[in-house]
Amino acid sequence: MRAVIVRSFGGPDVLEVEEVPVPEAGSGQIRIRVAAAAVNPVDLQTRSGALTAGGVLPPREVLGIGWDVAGTVEALGPQVTGFRRGDAVIGLSDRLALPLKAQAEYVVLDADAVASVPAGTDLVAAATLPLGGLTAAQALDAAGAGPGDTLLVTGAAGAVGGYAVQLAAAAGVRVVAVAGAGDEEVVRDLGAEFFVPRTADLPAAVRAAVPGGVHAAVDAASVGMLALDAVRGGGALVSVLGNAPTPLRGIRVSNVWIRADGPRLAALAAAGLRPRVAGVLPLHEVAEAHRRLAAGGLRGRLVLVP
Ligand SMILES: NC(=O)c1ccc[n+]([C@@H]2O[C@H](COP(=O)([O-])OP(=O)(O)OC[C@H]3O[C@@H](n4cnc5c(N)ncnc54)[C@H](OP(=O)(O)O)[C@@H]3O)[C@@H](O)[C@H]2O)c1
Repeated sequence: MRAVIVRSFGGPDVLEVEEVPVPEAGSGQIRIRVAAAAVNPVDLQTRSGALTAGGVLPPREVLGIGWDVAGTVEALGPQVTGFRRGDAVIGLSDRLALPLKAQAEYVVLDADAVASVPAGTDLVAAATLPLGGLTAAQALDAAGAGPGDTLLVTGAAGAVGGYAVQLAAAAGVRVVAVAGAGDEEVVRDLGAEFFVPRTADLPAAVRAAVPGGVHAAVDAASVGMLALDAVRGGGALVSVLGNAPTPLRGIRVSNVWIRADGPRLAALAAAGLRPRVAGVLPLHEVAEAHRRLAAGGLRGRLVLVP
């Protein structure tokens, strides 16, 4: 089968699409025939070596690329229950240092990282859900905002931010969205009550909308202290880049790290969230997908189709 791998770190040109043996599903694992695999910022950080430099990813001779997958169950390892061959599924490959990941013709995942979706699901759109949706859900758990509370979401037009806006609004949380000047309609459409352009003085603009500051923040654009300054004393801030700011004014500050969770993913898939696809490319154009994502300005995910 063909799979995207890197052998050395660098720009998009270090990405290789190589013939490799089809992986076997071990005990408790499922082999998925990949229909679609989304391209995420973590793929760029893996390929460039930023994650290894940051101490998150140990050096390896060969690294696979790709976390998000949608496809069909092709083989079941021993002791897998609840899935059948041919089922439409989505899943998350959440271990960094594997030689084969989701951007390939087949991927093997632990069964508890996989969720069934209804037959006939648009698998290209569904491939954009796992990483962004689960990160948003797990960040909202940590933020702890409830119905009627106010929540700041930075990077609200992005994947994590966009799902955070949708999930929070659906739970009755009043969302203040920070995004590009041209994104107001998009984020209001996702459920934001207030909009702050990212060029604004963030704490001042948020506090003008919500006197005293918001109850909590999900900082998906990693603006750190600026987001913290918009949170009221005793509130909460969740960062997604591992660089959570100093917990001033009694604000509960935390970093969220995504973890695969099949049952949660199944619930997200059934929650009527709006997936956003920025473009579809064949697997061998993975380097072009990296260039486009790095350039910024995408609204929705690029999806590779083997
Ligand atoms: N901790 C974890 O487990 C975890 C999991 C998933 C993702 N992440 C990280 O979370 C971050 C967001 O991921 P994503 O998938 O949502 O990326 P994404 O889809 O590229 O979205 C990021 C969004 O933030 C916007 N943005 C950049 N700077 C901003 C600013 N100062 N104010 C407001 N918006 C700004 C971007 O706009 P432009 O495109 O116009 O620049 C884009 O819309 C990435 O750094 C990713 O690596 C962490």
